[in-house]
Amino acid sequence: MPTRRAFVIGYPVKHSRSPLIHNFWLKKYDIDGSYIKLEVLPEKLGEFLVEMQGHGYCGGNVTLPHKEKVYSACVFTTAMAQKVGAVNTLWLENGHICGDNTDVTGFLANLDAEAPGWDVDCSSAAVIGAGGAARAILVGLAERNIAEVKILNRSADRMQALVEEARNWGFRKVSGRLLDDKPGVLSGEALLVNTTSLGMVGQPRLTIDLGGLRERAVVSDIIYAPLETELLADARARGHRISSGLGMLLHQAAPGFERWFGVRPVVSEELREFIIEDLRRAQS
Ligand SMILES: NC(=O)c1ccc[n+]([C@@H]2O[C@H](COP(=O)([O-])OP(=O)(O)OC[C@H]3O[C@@H](n4cnc5c(N)ncnc54)[C@H](OP(=O)(O)O)[C@@H]3O)[C@@H](O)[C@H]2O)c1
Repeated sequence: MPTRRAFVIGYPVKHSRSPLIHNFWLKKYDIDGSYIKLEVLPEKLGEFLVEMQGHGYCGGNVTLPHKEKVYSACVFTTAMAQKVGAVNTLWLENGHICGDNTDVTGFLANLDAEAPGWDVDCSSAAVIGAGGAARAILVGLAERNIAEVKILNRSADRMQALVEEARNWGFRKVSGRLLDDKPGVLSGEALLVNTTSLGMVGQPRLTIDLGGLRERAVVSDIIYAPLETELLADARARGHRISSGLGMLLHQAAPGFERWFGVRPVVSEELREFIIEDLRRAQS
């Protein structure tokens, strides 16, 4: 049995690319470890967390729908996990469950890499969605001192709840509005981020009028299948810089790998190509 064993838990989890990423790095750095995906039903999560050490695991990633429940089960959480109220990376310390949220740093690291200088002169941003990923991205925007944010969402109650919460995160202004495709929904933002599943393979496309964005605005989509959503293709055609979800996925994985296996891995072009190849195979 490998010395260090890690996992990704979720329900469903079969679509997860995390095992491909971590096993790529395990091979690359010649580490005696393993990383597997485990489907854990919501009603079995508590049992899994109690038993994971006995099964020889040192930690793992957490995906939908478990991120908030694992956060509540942690004895120690990082400041980032506390801000988001959810955990996507856990590990054991003296038998205690500890948790971090690396979606925030993954999102920021990717945007820095794909659209360098995006936050220079970015006084206002719009975020589409009001779920867990939107929370993480808003925490990231607060970290970078973006002054104004607008939250656009399909359902009013979830949007309003997130607007109220984000008002405590240091923004100068937080507004919300229902997501629709009418002109004028955007007005002078320098960054637009889609955090909904709209545009993902098998889902309807996201339709939004990009006309109100600033001329040099950056458009980001955290979806990575397809690699370039129709939203990103439209934004590219309008001359905007774009950033896709694959980089976020790769960058959020690195801190967990370092915790479990002791090496800070590099998000290389080789890894990127390896995952793109798998995504293409899955779509063909
Ligand atoms: N690239 C990465 O590393 C990364 C990391 C984390 C998440 N993600 C992706 O981000 C997406 C969202 O994750 P999450 O954790 O935020 O999920 P979530 O908490 O379930 O939130 C889903 C969001 O999408 C909206 N939505 C879903 N279906 C919609 C539809 N048909 N029309 C309009 N809005 C719709 C929901 O709106 P309502 O509030 O109206 O329901 C909500 O705002 C997922 O696709 C996930 O794979 C990517």
